[in-house]
Amino acid sequence: MRKPLISGTWKMNLNHFEAIQTVQKLAYLVGKDELELVDVSLHPPFTDVRSVQTLIDTDKLGYALGAQHCHWEEKGAYTGEVSPVFLAKLGVQYVICGHSERRELFGETDEMVNKKVAAIQQHGMTPIMCVGETLEEREAGQTEAKVLGQVRAGLAGRKPEPIGALVIAYEPIWAIGTGRTATADDAQQMCAAIRACVAELAGAEAAESVRVQYGGSVKAGTVAELIAQPDVDGALVGGASLDPDEFAKICKLGA
Ligand code: PGA
Repeated sequence: MRKPLISGTWKMNLNHFEAIQTVQKLAYLVGKDELELVDVSLHPPFTDVRSVQTLIDTDKLGYALGAQHCHWEEKGAYTGEVSPVFLAKLGVQYVICGHSERRELFGETDEMVNKKVAAIQQHGMTPIMCVGETLEEREAGQTEAKVLGQVRAGLAGRKPEPIGALVIAYEPIWAIGTGRTATADDAQQMCAAIRACVAELAGAEAAESVRVQYGGSVKAGTVAELIAQPDVDGALVGGASLDPDEFAKICKLGA
């Protein structure tokens, strides 16, 4: 049985003071008992990571620290980038890569995602690799080709290495920040197809252990039905994770 993972990504929202307040409110609402049943990772902007880490560690909150992005190189002349080594040193456990906003707005390619997945794992952290189709691709019947193509590209060239600790987030781009969610059936179908693709690439054991999240306008009202699907192992939550009350409900319903 895979333990569900609910990940809250704040994107470019909340400064480090607001981050501390948000986590404090959340900790009051979702405590140790709930976290026995569900893993929760928090992905603040870089400037907040240290503050959130201190709070999680000092108060032993049981949340996993996450990041939204990193470079694949350990160090060097990459102005503005952050090394996976620095994130690991801060106790980051999960790093998002290949998010559609990074792919669309910042030119992140499949090749870059592939290098990042490997680098994140190499430094003992778990990548949350995002994949998803645009509305045009969906309407043209290309959903599976696009999504599985991204999965294959992100994991290419690893054989005979085992797949390692990995989360894949299925995020239809038309559902991100739009208030539109894939139906539970559609989410299940794609998450199952992603798992089957992992089986083909890395074997049945890897497919069984990989956690596949759904992301895209997840709210307290929709999360339970999504997570009830056999191949949906959690949710990647953007907008709704900024509100501790709403996010707490999502975490509890996701358990
Ligand atoms: P959203 O974002 O929940 O605001 O749609 C999800 C995401 O970008 O991962």
